[in-house]
Amino acid sequence: MSESLAGKRIIVSAGPTYEDLDPVRFIGNRSSGKMGFAIATAAAQRDANVVLIAGPVPLPTPAAVTRIDVRSAAQMREAVLAALPADLYIGAAAVADYTPRQVSGSKIKKSGETLTLELVRTPDILAEVASHPMRPRLVVGFAAETENVATHARDKLDRKQLDMIAANQVGIAGSGFESDDNALTVYWSDGERALGPASKKQIASELLDLITERLRR
Ligand code: C5P
Repeated sequence: MSESLAGKRIIVSAGPTYEDLDPVRFIGNRSSGKMGFAIATAAAQRDANVVLIAGPVPLPTPAAVTRIDVRSAAQMREAVLAALPADLYIGAAAVADYTPRQVSGSKIKKSGETLTLELVRTPDILAEVASHPMRPRLVVGFAAETENVATHARDKLDRKQLDMIAANQVGIAGSGFESDDNALTVYWSDGERALGPASKKQIASELLDLITERLRR
C-alpha cells in the first residue's frame, strides 16, 4: 500500500517546450510528456493536490489533476512560479535551453543558401524554484544524459541546489523520451537508487516512494 500524500501540494512540469521562430515554425524536442504525466497521475492517486504544468503534448489530463497548458519556456516559468507555494516541485519537463532572440511576425522567407538563427538562453526554471524565497521542501529534477550519467547528474544536483535528480541515459532501447518504459538512477546528496527498467507508471510510483521517504526525514 503506498503512503498517502494527502494535504501535500505538488507541482509537476512535463513535456517539451516549443520556441517559436515565426507564425508557422518552432524549435522543439522529442519529449513525450509521459514520465511527468505518470508522476502527476501517481501523486493524485495518493491524494496529493497536483498542479501539472504541461508543454504541448496530446496526452489526456490525469484524473483529479489541475492542468495548465503552456508552450514556451518563458510561459512554463511563469506558470510554475504562479503555482508556488508548494511542498514539492518535480521538474520533469524538457525545457528548451535556448530560444530565438527574435520571433518574426511573418513567415521567414527563403533567400540565401544559409540561414543563421540567433538564440538566447532561457531561464533555468528548476534552479530558480530551488533558490526561490518560496522554495518547496523538496525540489526534484530530471536529467537526460548521453554519457557520464552519474557525474553530470551529481553536478546538476549541486549546481541547481536540488534535493534529488532522476537521470536517464538517452539512446538506450526501450527507455527515454517516447517510450512507455524507462530506466532511471535517482541521486541525492548521500545516496542513489536505480529504478527500472519498468513502465513509466511503475517508475513514477517508486520515485514517489523515495520522495515520500525524504519528506518524512
Ligand atoms: O541542465 P539540464 O537542462 O540538463 O537540466 C534538466 C533539468 O532542469 C530538468 O529537470 C528540467 O526540467 C530543468 N530545466 C529547467 N529550465 C531550463 C532547463 C532545464 O527547469 N531552462
